[in-house]
Amino acid sequence: MKNNNSSAVLFLIFLIFTNYWLTIIEAQKCKPSGKIKGEKPPAGQCNKDNNSDCCEEGKYYSTYKCSPTVSRHTKAILALNGFEKGSDGGAPSECDSKYHSDNTPVVALSTGWFNKKKRCLKNITIFGNGRSVNATVVDECDSTMGCDSDHDYQPPCRNNIVDASKAVWEALKVPKDKRGELDIHWTDAN
Ligand SMILES: *[C@@H]1O[C@H](CO)[C@@H](O)[C@H](O)[C@H]1NC(C)=O
Ligand SMILES: *[C@@H]1O[C@H](CO)[C@@H](O)[C@H](O)[C@H]1NC(C)=O
Ligand SMILES: *[C@@H]1O[C@H](CO)[C@@H](O)[C@H](O)[C@H]1NC(C)=O
Repeated sequence: MKNNNSSAVLFLIFLIFTNYWLTIIEAQKCKPSGKIKGEKPPAGQCNKDNNSDCCEEGKYYSTYKCSPTVSRHTKAILALNGFEKGSDGGAPSECDSKYHSDNTPVVALSTGWFNKKKRCLKNITIFGNGRSVNATVVDECDSTMGCDSDHDYQPPCRNNIVDASKAVWEALKVPKDKRGELDIHWTDAN
């Protein structure tokens, strides 16, 4: 009887502690910062090339100022982006106000990872498809805004995107018809 009671007490303490830790872990998770309501793109707006998504009227999209914590093995989704003038990226890259050849390994990162330009012109190492490549951060994939003319009526970026040039996909030897979205992980190089 006495033994049973003390294991019950221990179990209770165990429950209180796990609950405590789960609450702390939960608080560190990246939560949405807001929502925007999709507007129908005006005729001829929103470029559907390269798997770009267009905002849908009345649909809500979550916005994020944060991204998941960066580690040596940061999980992300690799997407395809054009960095040349006239491509889906639109404006010149935020880091250097320049356009970049899609034959150079460059990426745009979700707002949280872009970290107010702190990763600008730094390299990250991307691991995917059993290979790795170093790519230079040149732009932001805006997770805080979207569905307006500045963003070609595309939804805000998710918070875990590495939006990469053709050269990155080529270095990872992903066949052309599979270049859309790929589960990868990445880390800061050097
Ligand atoms: C689609 O991506 C390719 C490769 O990155 C790029 O050359 C092309 O300009 C993009 N198309 C558009 C319309 O943005
Ligand atoms: C990426 O850069 C790091 C640091 O400069 C280097 O150690 C590593 O070998 C490079 N990886 C590739 C795939 O080029
Ligand atoms: C960054 O990566 C690019 C592309 O792989 C490479 O050419 C360049 O040397 C790297 N820069 C540094 C500082 O490692």
